[in-house]
Amino acid sequence: MDIPRLHPDTIEQIKQRLDIVDVVSEYVVLRKQGKDFVGLCPFHDDKSPSFTVSPSKQFYYCFSCGAGGNAIKFLMELGKRPFSEVMLDLARRYQVPVQTLKPEERQEFQRQVSLREQLYEILALTARFYEHALQQPQGKVALEYLQTKRRLSKDTIQQFQLGYAPGGWETLYGYLVEQKHYPTELVEQAGLLVPRKTGEGYYDRFRDRLMIPIHDLQGRVVGFGGRTLTDEQPKYLNSPETELFDKGKLLFGLDKARATIAKQDQAIVVEGYFDVIALHHAGITNAVASMGTALSSAQVKQLLRYTESRRIVLNFDADRAGTQAAERAVGEVETLAYRGDIQLRVLNIPDGKDPDEFLQHHTADQYQKLLDQAPLWLDWQIEQAIADKDLKQADQFQEAVQAIVKLLGSLPNAPLRTHYIHHCAERLSDGDSRLMLRLEEDLRLQVRGERWHGRSHKWQTRSDRNLLEESEAQLLRLYLHAPDQRSAIIIAMEERDLEFSLAHHRFLWRQIAELEGEGEGERGREGEEAGSNLEDTIQNPKSKIQNPPDLIALLQDRCTDYPGEMARLYPLFQLDEKAKRDILRAPLTIRAATAAMERIMCEKRCRHFEQLWEQTDASTAQELDYYQQKIYAEKRRIAELDRERQVTFVDLVQAPWVGDLRD
Ligand code: UTP
Ligand code: MN
Repeated sequence: MDIPRLHPDTIEQIKQRLDIVDVVSEYVVLRKQGKDFVGLCPFHDDKSPSFTVSPSKQFYYCFSCGAGGNAIKFLMELGKRPFSEVMLDLARRYQVPVQTLKPEERQEFQRQVSLREQLYEILALTARFYEHALQQPQGKVALEYLQTKRRLSKDTIQQFQLGYAPGGWETLYGYLVEQKHYPTELVEQAGLLVPRKTGEGYYDRFRDRLMIPIHDLQGRVVGFGGRTLTDEQPKYLNSPETELFDKGKLLFGLDKARATIAKQDQAIVVEGYFDVIALHHAGITNAVASMGTALSSAQVKQLLRYTESRRIVLNFDADRAGTQAAERAVGEVETLAYRGDIQLRVLNIPDGKDPDEFLQHHTADQYQKLLDQAPLWLDWQIEQAIADKDLKQADQFQEAVQAIVKLLGSLPNAPLRTHYIHHCAERLSDGDSRLMLRLEEDLRLQVRGERWHGRSHKWQTRSDRNLLEESEAQLLRLYLHAPDQRSAIIIAMEERDLEFSLAHHRFLWRQIAELEGEGEGERGREGEEAGSNLEDTIQNPKSKIQNPPDLIALLQDRCTDYPGEMARLYPLFQLDEKAKRDILRAPLTIRAATAAMERIMCEKRCRHFEQLWEQTDASTAQELDYYQQKIYAEKRRIAELDRERQVTFVDLVQAPWVGDLRD
């Protein structure tokens, strides 16, 4: 939509009412620390709280990725929304009367606001209409179904605002259009009416169904799921996508679960509406549902806002299409789990029951026990690979090994890989210690082959090489000249599983490692940000730069024996204007450089898999599917990295200390 330009007075009034803690805490779990607040940064995959909010300064700042600014910038960056759109939302929220620069724009604005508001109104009214109908004679069957078949209490029925859509083609139509005089187009836009295929007019979308309202985070009704009470198909009829309803982004029950998710620091994701309702009814109130679709990254990210330790348990039906269904449901979560960005567990209830069925005959405590025993996602995957195999049969044994190699090959964290290789060798050798040793070695080799980590130059293009040269040099220069950034550089590289790849850079890195090994202490950790402090960084970033210690001098001495390499490295020892700027915004420099390096790795892997894919015989569908998934995963990561680099670029132009936000 075209957004009107707001009058400066309106902007001023909004700014006066705005509070950064208020705004941020809607998206980030904040904990008080001194006079500031800290939490997990929503702008990068933060593992420990490096995101700080200062109420006195009305600023946020992330020590890890360098994101920072005021409340308005926060909303703009988080939602990738333009200034005026954010301001309009805020005006509504703080009930600031909106003045625009042009009167005709004001009208358009009112129209937009009132469209959404009217849709909310219609949906809320409809929910109440259905609730009411449930208590009427016509809703008797539905109510009995809830009370006897689902054993739900009055309270739970009320809490979830469950209702009944009466049979008949124009019941809701009669209520909303004829009685309440809402325009049919509007009710249709709310997803409640369907235009007739023949002739004029509309009919009710939901007829003779048990109605489950779906709420957004603010608890407003945005859509419905309607369950049949007969054998009619589909079992659940859902609202279509509307202005307010986006099934792929919403999680059913999150409005009711978010407080407990934060308190227990764990979220349970189930498949069905009634699984959530049954769990909440049993007092397990940190459960949400993905409504039958694969979990999207948008949904996962919402959950991660509330659980600081990023703990998610997937409790999907294991029986249906067996593992496959669960694996599909894992969707985007897999990538995050592999990277260690979330602690993902998988709960399969014995006998293939869903939580609702389980709770019909078991207590909440018994469910909690199952939860506590739920294996980590990778352990679960490994068990799946072995589960239905007879390991005494050579071919089945080989299949299990191959499946495991594929799993472990996707694990970027090297120590974890070692751990799991050992574990799997143990698991597969079944107590035979000689077999176990050979198997461990064998697995290691196969996983290494599988990992093909993109260091080969074969898949590198010329522009890759230039970008690599630049990014690696940037990091090394920073490492040499800004000692307090050294640990951050090492951590960033480890997190992304990166190494320097150009020969002269590897050479320098080895020399540095050897020199640091000669001194006392562990490499690189000496610069830990012990004294880092929000105000210092924002007001006086220069205070973070110290004089380079004698590392450069030592290197120059040491390397006189290698004039060839030295000639190429010499520029790194110099501090030019650009390098000085890089140091001033070190977190951004590190993020941008490592993101660029990772991107090149992804690109290379992608090309590699694309070639494998092309070479694969079309009859081996499984293999093709596998390569396709790999390619897709790399492409998705590349898109993420591009976004990350984009944000970095914006940050560079508009670092928090550069000045306040432009209008
Ligand atoms: P399931 O088919 O697993 O059923 O659907 P369930 O939740 O156990 O249903 P009950 O217990 O028989 O009532 C899981 C979820 O998938 C979506 C719904 O969100 C449902 O809760 N779904 C399923 C649909 O949207 N449409 C369907 O036809 C079926
Ligand atoms: Mn069920």
